[in-house]
Amino acid sequence: MLTRSLVLAIFCTLSVVIVRAQDLSIGGEWKFMTGDQPGWEDAAFNDSAWKTIRVGAPWERQGYAGYDGFAWYRRHIVIPSSIRNKVFLKETLRFDLGKIEDGDEVYLNGFLIGRNAGLPGDIKAGFKRMERSYLLPLSDPHIRWDNDNVLAVRVWNGRRNGGMYEGRYGVSAMDVTDFITLRPSGAAFRLAGGKPFTRKVVLISSSEKYLFRGRLNIRLTDPFSGVVVFRQTINANFDHNRPFEYTYITPLPESKSYRIDYSFEDNKSGQQLTMAEDMPYILTPIDRAAPRINGPEVYGVRPGAPIQYKIPVTGQRPLTFQAAGLPPTLHLDRQQGILTGSLAEKGSYTLQLTIKNGAGTVTRDLTIVCGEKISLTPALGWNSWNCWGLTVSDEKVRASADAMAAKLADHGWSYVNIDDGWEDKRDAQGEIVPNGKFPNMKKLSDYVHALGLKIGIYSSPGPTTCGGYMGSYQHEDQDAATYARWGIDYLKYDWCSYSEVAPKSPTLEDAKFPFIVMKQSLDKVHRDIVYSLSQYGAAEIWKWGGSVGANSWRTTGDISDNWGSLSGIGFRQDNSAPFVTPGEFNDPDMLVVGKVGWGPLLHNSRLSPDEQFTHISLWCLLSAPLLIGCDMSQLDDFTLGLLNNDEVLAVDQDRLVRPASKVLNRDSLQVWVKELSDGSKAVGLFNLKTVPLKTTVSFSEMTLPSSAKLRDLWRQQDLGRYRDSFPVRIAAHGVLLLKVSAVK
Ligand code: GAL
Repeated sequence: MLTRSLVLAIFCTLSVVIVRAQDLSIGGEWKFMTGDQPGWEDAAFNDSAWKTIRVGAPWERQGYAGYDGFAWYRRHIVIPSSIRNKVFLKETLRFDLGKIEDGDEVYLNGFLIGRNAGLPGDIKAGFKRMERSYLLPLSDPHIRWDNDNVLAVRVWNGRRNGGMYEGRYGVSAMDVTDFITLRPSGAAFRLAGGKPFTRKVVLISSSEKYLFRGRLNIRLTDPFSGVVVFRQTINANFDHNRPFEYTYITPLPESKSYRIDYSFEDNKSGQQLTMAEDMPYILTPIDRAAPRINGPEVYGVRPGAPIQYKIPVTGQRPLTFQAAGLPPTLHLDRQQGILTGSLAEKGSYTLQLTIKNGAGTVTRDLTIVCGEKISLTPALGWNSWNCWGLTVSDEKVRASADAMAAKLADHGWSYVNIDDGWEDKRDAQGEIVPNGKFPNMKKLSDYVHALGLKIGIYSSPGPTTCGGYMGSYQHEDQDAATYARWGIDYLKYDWCSYSEVAPKSPTLEDAKFPFIVMKQSLDKVHRDIVYSLSQYGAAEIWKWGGSVGANSWRTTGDISDNWGSLSGIGFRQDNSAPFVTPGEFNDPDMLVVGKVGWGPLLHNSRLSPDEQFTHISLWCLLSAPLLIGCDMSQLDDFTLGLLNNDEVLAVDQDRLVRPASKVLNRDSLQVWVKELSDGSKAVGLFNLKTVPLKTTVSFSEMTLPSSAKLRDLWRQQDLGRYRDSFPVRIAAHGVLLLKVSAVK
């Protein structure tokens, strides 16, 4: 029996275009029955009394609302032998069955052809969001060519949406190129390092029989000029046991993205596989040895609340920290740079920080504002959702905290936030109990704090969370007290099932109500807990989120790692921007850079390198909370370069908190301008086109003074003085992020 999952689609995640013939469509209507009985997989079973259902939409939307448990789908199909006859490589028949929520077993004519698309684990393990593709040898005797066959799918759903939905539905014979995985890898290049750039390409065969003999073509093109800067063709032979590997080295003239086209031509079949990627490149310079103080200039605390703030500093270790003007109730750890203690009285306390190392000394003020507001600048941290989804665990959170402490904290990153999937039930006293993946929440929180970081948690005002776990409904005081006891610093509070208990057509007051309730509960505990709301931007929350005591609120639905989602969210944030003030932020959702996947399987963000520069630049211009959504234990240099640019992060953390406004939208060029506290402006010029843009922008159309000094923030380089206009070159879907200061 052959039950391999098809890895091809998972690995070729860049700009791959592989078109496969869908020989027999099996979308549309299937027979359906809830429950689970032996014999339902049998081809001879009479399913004429079963109802019909459409695949492609969850069963909840087709008359089975609220149904969780087992159910079966059945379909009669004639598999024509023409499918087999027309392919060159007569090896494998493939069944695409969309995505299945949560687990599945698939039978062809009563014979089990696969379970959970080849992943280990039983049907209840749940591999939602993953494409289901099952493979059978064309010679398998269970296939009845040109006759009636029965596909029977046993589905288990634990909570929320269930069934066969999304994705492709079809039966096809795989041909030569369907068996090839073409995987480029290697470090992103940094021109400042002056090294030639090296990249490896691997060709892997998943065919057990075929010997691939052919040619691999590699072509690098400058997207601005169309000039091919490197081209190579090599013979490439490989088979199942012997992948083909080739490493190429080429100096690149400029630090920008290049398009790389790959193709493999197979001699015997004449078939060709093509794939393209945009080369990841690093703009952020390497940290200097001398100390540099990062993070915000203001830090909000509430009277009496315990303070733990690690001053973010880059530079060679060891460092020594000093603070003049330190109030007597605060303590500074002079080696670690961690401020602890508390302040009893409201007011502004300005500390003059001096930090030294073997390479120099730096000074800067830090103002601690003791009052009712916390999170005076947007939170910088990580959240488990975009990578791990509901598969988050204690172990994964610790690994993220370790990575943050080692690689990001010096640049100001501090929150390690657990999203949905940590909850279990309530005990006899009604207290929330974490599930088996979180053996001891207090110990986990101590672990994160010991690294100088902060920890966040997630809940819903409804009876259940969006993932179907226990929510805080009618236990708000108790949950806030539990969070405080565990040492929680951040709460994401997600509307989810609150609709079940809210009035049918909620008024504005109804929309606010559950968030006010939790705020009152949080106010009863003597701990600064950042309060982050998630209700997807309903009822224009940006107009009232601050009034219910929130520090941030989602303005949109969930983001995903593609340009449509990113640009659809990011470039529409101008309506809500005017409502942002220190401690009250719009949240256009978490970052989709690095390895994401919503758990358990991860892939590289499907955004191109330039789209990722756009993502971070725009979020910083918007004064948005930056919550990294990737697997932190696999941070690559490109992603680190995106996240650790101090001049870019300073735009987000600027104490004035004046989100950018869109001042120009001309021919797919958008310009967003943000006022900064030092009187200068951060300006993002975005190219929304799929081709590079060369143009000249006038300072007046960007609402800038006629004479100005420009600095490229990603490259951290002065560009000089300009009068009236500025010539720009912006990559497809890319950005130029400038700091513009008036020249007197
Ligand atoms: C969604 C929310 C996501 C994530 C998820 C957890 O409603 O938008 O960010 O928190 O719930 O189930």
